[in-house]
Amino acid sequence: MCGIVGYIGNKKASSILIQGLQRLEYRGYDSAGIATIEKNSIKIMKDKGRVNNLYNLEGIDNLEGTIGIAHTRWATHGKPSKDNAHPHYDNDNMFAVVHNGIIENYNELRSELIEKGYHFVSQTDTEVIPNLINYYYKQDKTKDDNKVLKAVKNACMDLIGSFAIEVISSESPENMIVVRKDSPLVIGKGYKENYIASDIPAILSYTKDFYFLNDYEFALLSRDKIKFYDTNLVEIDKPTKSIEWDSKGAEKDGYEHFMLKEIYEQPIAIRETIGTRLSNGKVIFDELDFSKEYLQSLNKIFIVACGTAMHAGIVSKTIFERLCKIPVEVEIASEFRYRDPLIDEKTLAIYISQSGETADTIAALKLAKSKGAKTLAISNVIGSSITREADYSIYTHAGPEIAVASTKAYTSQITLLTLLAIYCSEKLERADSDKITKLKEDLLEAPSKVEEVLKNTSQIKKFAKKVHKEKDMFFLGRGIDYAVSLEGSLKLKEISYIHSEGYASGELKHGPIALIDTGVTVISIMTDPKLVEKSISNVQEVITRGAKVLIVTNQDLENKGFELVIKIPEISTEISPLLSIVPLQLFAYYISKEKGLDVDKPRNLAKSVTVE
Ligand code: F6R
Repeated sequence: MCGIVGYIGNKKASSILIQGLQRLEYRGYDSAGIATIEKNSIKIMKDKGRVNNLYNLEGIDNLEGTIGIAHTRWATHGKPSKDNAHPHYDNDNMFAVVHNGIIENYNELRSELIEKGYHFVSQTDTEVIPNLINYYYKQDKTKDDNKVLKAVKNACMDLIGSFAIEVISSESPENMIVVRKDSPLVIGKGYKENYIASDIPAILSYTKDFYFLNDYEFALLSRDKIKFYDTNLVEIDKPTKSIEWDSKGAEKDGYEHFMLKEIYEQPIAIRETIGTRLSNGKVIFDELDFSKEYLQSLNKIFIVACGTAMHAGIVSKTIFERLCKIPVEVEIASEFRYRDPLIDEKTLAIYISQSGETADTIAALKLAKSKGAKTLAISNVIGSSITREADYSIYTHAGPEIAVASTKAYTSQITLLTLLAIYCSEKLERADSDKITKLKEDLLEAPSKVEEVLKNTSQIKKFAKKVHKEKDMFFLGRGIDYAVSLEGSLKLKEISYIHSEGYASGELKHGPIALIDTGVTVISIMTDPKLVEKSISNVQEVITRGAKVLIVTNQDLENKGFELVIKIPEISTEISPLLSIVPLQLFAYYISKEKGLDVDKPRNLAKSVTVE
């Protein structure tokens, strides 16, 4: 989705802005632009295509301004083009605006502005914003110091939808104004300079101190001060939060792609997520105050998320139900929010979001909260929107995840959910203590077992090379391996553009087996000893019909006549996804690389999906 960067300080803004945009490239975009204040007037430079194109624009090197805003656009309203790229001016070139999100009532606002004599040069929803600001600014006959802020505020109150907005103005050339509603935006505090970005990693090399705006909070920035206002323009206090992430986390650090680096970072991400939550045999969540009585009162747990995060939820359903004996429903956020689910105060609603900014997941959380359920957010980003909405927030410690295809966030989410299930189950005293002890031991051993898996990549690489031209693949599994098959399939689709399906092995016979023919590739995951024999039967069925089969297993299935068996270490079934997903991530990665695709920024995808 779109990315925003801003700078106000004493350095040349243009280079900081363009570098910031390059760090946001992973979010997905089709055009880019910047605006700076040059001798009290605004200069906009923008174009279709890659951020790098900005360096070739005539005059870009002559920009000397030290205040500026910047944007990467992921087209929603209007095709990718120079005119539709941000920043956008008002009709008098007094205001430049960049915007993330969607203005749902832009058609009405546009018509009203046209009636008032305004004209539009783009097809975007965004262009109504600078013109509305212009309108309110001209209506205000006072000489108020905060006249621009007032105009921005009035304009924002007319907007329906989601927005993160940066505004610079020739009428107030020493300031910048930012505001957000349901769209991400962070403010980085420096020394006599301040930064804006849609994501922390974009500006992590400049500062570790961040402000997080709530909906409809306005920030008026100057070089050495940031003032915050509510919708009545009454000044409010906001604390900074320090982010522990190392800026190296947002660099490739010698790896060819961020995705590969992040796959290899999984042992450390799992270790960090376990952190001090599991020590001396005890699982501790200081952030939670769930009593035994509260947990006993629950008749349902919802786990709600999108994409990979939802797949982590499906994995953890098994462990929650086994340890806590509470029914768990895992739901896609975009479905959950519109299907009127049965929720009350006896429901615990858990939301998983790496970015913490996924629009559907946040909306689904607000729904459960409004119906009296306690809401718990699991996110990787401190201060992200979802964590500000939820009753409780707990964090994975995966570090910045830059590749669009999620890897280390997924395994960190499973780790945290496992710890959470153990925490709840110990309070409830509903599970066998030996079982819990074994899970804790295995969780602590998981990072080194993932390291083992990561040492054994040559066979996967070879198999990926062999099948990279295929058009369709199947991922099969039973029980928890079925959950992993869904994620393996998603990874492959996303970055290799090969159609694939994750299927429950036992369900194959009920239809999809019709698609199995000579040469079709099937990847079968078999880690649950109780289900291995059944999975083998299913694999035999596809081999008989000519399929090429890759098996990922912790059982001794080598030398049994299968084409390729990737052996992974043994571990409790409930947490085996931490290991079994790794060969599948690598498989998708090597296929994408073999096909010469853009592994880290696959087509049409955005890292953080901040619109519905
Ligand atoms: C897949 C992927 C997406 C995200 C989904 C939710 O590799 O990254 O499916 O998992 O868009 O994103 P978050 O976790 O940020 O809410």
